[in-house]
Amino acid sequence: MFSLPRHLTLETSSEALAHIHDSNSAENGSIGFVRTMDIRPLETHHSLDERSLNDIISSGLSSPRPPRQLETVKSSECLEALLSPSIRSSTGTPREHHAFEPHPMIGDAWEALRRSMVFFRTKPVGTIAALDPTEDSLNYNQVFVRDFVPSALAFLMNGEPEIVKNFLLKTLRLQSIEKRIDCFTLGEGVMPASFKVLHDPVRKTDTMIADFGESAIGRVAPVDSGFWWIILLRAYTKSTGDHTLADMPDCQRGMRLILTLCLADGFDTFPTLLCADGCCMVDRRMGIYGYPIEIQSLFFMALRSAKSLIKAEGEGKEFLERIDKRLHALSFHMREYFWLDHTQLNNIYRFKTEEYSHTAVNKFNVIPDSIPDWIFDFLPLKGGFFIGNVSPARMDFRWFSIGNFMAILSSLATSEQASAIMDLLEARWPELVGDMPLKVSYPAMEGHEWHIVTGCDPKNTRWSYHNAGSWPVILWMLTAACIKAGRPQIARRAIEQVETRLAKDGWPEYYDGKLGRYVGKQARKFQTWSIAGYLVAKMMLEDPSHLGMIGLEEDKKMKPSLTRSASWTA
Ligand code: GLC
Repeated sequence: MFSLPRHLTLETSSEALAHIHDSNSAENGSIGFVRTMDIRPLETHHSLDERSLNDIISSGLSSPRPPRQLETVKSSECLEALLSPSIRSSTGTPREHHAFEPHPMIGDAWEALRRSMVFFRTKPVGTIAALDPTEDSLNYNQVFVRDFVPSALAFLMNGEPEIVKNFLLKTLRLQSIEKRIDCFTLGEGVMPASFKVLHDPVRKTDTMIADFGESAIGRVAPVDSGFWWIILLRAYTKSTGDHTLADMPDCQRGMRLILTLCLADGFDTFPTLLCADGCCMVDRRMGIYGYPIEIQSLFFMALRSAKSLIKAEGEGKEFLERIDKRLHALSFHMREYFWLDHTQLNNIYRFKTEEYSHTAVNKFNVIPDSIPDWIFDFLPLKGGFFIGNVSPARMDFRWFSIGNFMAILSSLATSEQASAIMDLLEARWPELVGDMPLKVSYPAMEGHEWHIVTGCDPKNTRWSYHNAGSWPVILWMLTAACIKAGRPQIARRAIEQVETRLAKDGWPEYYDGKLGRYVGKQARKFQTWSIAGYLVAKMMLEDPSHLGMIGLEEDKKMKPSLTRSASWTA
């Protein structure tokens, strides 16, 4: 079939097998035990340069097609077909192996990823956030739901779904326990931010302990966890073709409970989800309270994923109707009010205020003087993006990578908007990608603004950590989004930049500086999602059919009639 890549020798595998690390002996050690397993070689396929997305769909079909220019092909037409197990297995023969010399980092990354695995009663259930021997572990010795997503995708892409299934089932159990903070009981559907496994070597028992925000710094609520859980359940189902997990009554109920939290009637006048600061990947005070783009994109993607998983029977039927209504309203709201390009900025700049009527143009009474200076220079004539937040008299014009890439992957962004986001990335490469991909947000807050907004957070100083720091993990989302938008060369350029440093620097959690040139002030080394993010990016570029597990086709029914900001058609 294919030979073992040079760096993945059997010696390496057996060495790895022998390595058993019982973290109970480590300071603060609370994970049961973390151990490595054998390393599976990556299957390799044509790179995207060589194949169009149409070709990808027919991967597995025996006669190779002549190479085509990928740039002319949009994936949105065929995403549902991607990764369909039935298509993958249609030939009954293994996929062809083409001469491909894997980057030496890949072997190291797999070893490090396997070392990060966490076991519960001998079964793998997740990956630890970071395995940095030089730093106090704090809560980095836990399995974070959001951090596990790239690990899960890497395992799925490598044909190892078991750990993902175990993770989904274990977190589902954790969801069902009663959650209390002081005297307050949290909603039933809340999923944990993270969990740890306590291993008692004497009694030989493992115990799982979850954090729903009660132990987290600042008691931050993980609004994103439930969404990631649903998205991962779909990825597992798409990748394995195994519907029995999602069809289980417990999984159906788990999804309904998560959705109950965000589809409940309240005082809302918008279909977006109102959140507290620090409710997602940015889990410290950073002025993202209100309607942060990351949550809105994940919400949208979770709704679309749930729509494909919830059974249209019993309670499920009503949920499906509510999902449809919300998706419709949410896509309109986001595409209309969060989207910013040159034309729209010019409109806002000329907004009249204090309009009182249904025909108001300036719906949220945004005062043009509140537009920050930097955005006028930053926004190119060609290009656009979803801004950070929109609420009464407040538009947060900052760029947030995760929200924008997840908008592309979920097709919250129309294909024109996806292209415009790619144009922006190309036009503002030094600012958004820099030396080490990729800025979590842009630009940094400093001075008085930093004082007020972050509460003088010493970890979130300008160009560091969540305050416009650079996070290698975002590479996988960038890569997936680029493939979906038909612009894989952008991802390739970013991956090449990552390959010059990431492994040499010890897989840091984040980088600091305007160009992301410095290993972050307090960055952990051997941060698992930096490792897994790289692997996922590489595997996707090599075999773009993996996109099917994390990408969703555009739903033509949801296309709103956009009346303004049409610069992307220029
Ligand atoms: C930091 C990140 C958060 C992540 C956690 C564990 O707190 O902000 O998103 O889940 O570290 O890696």
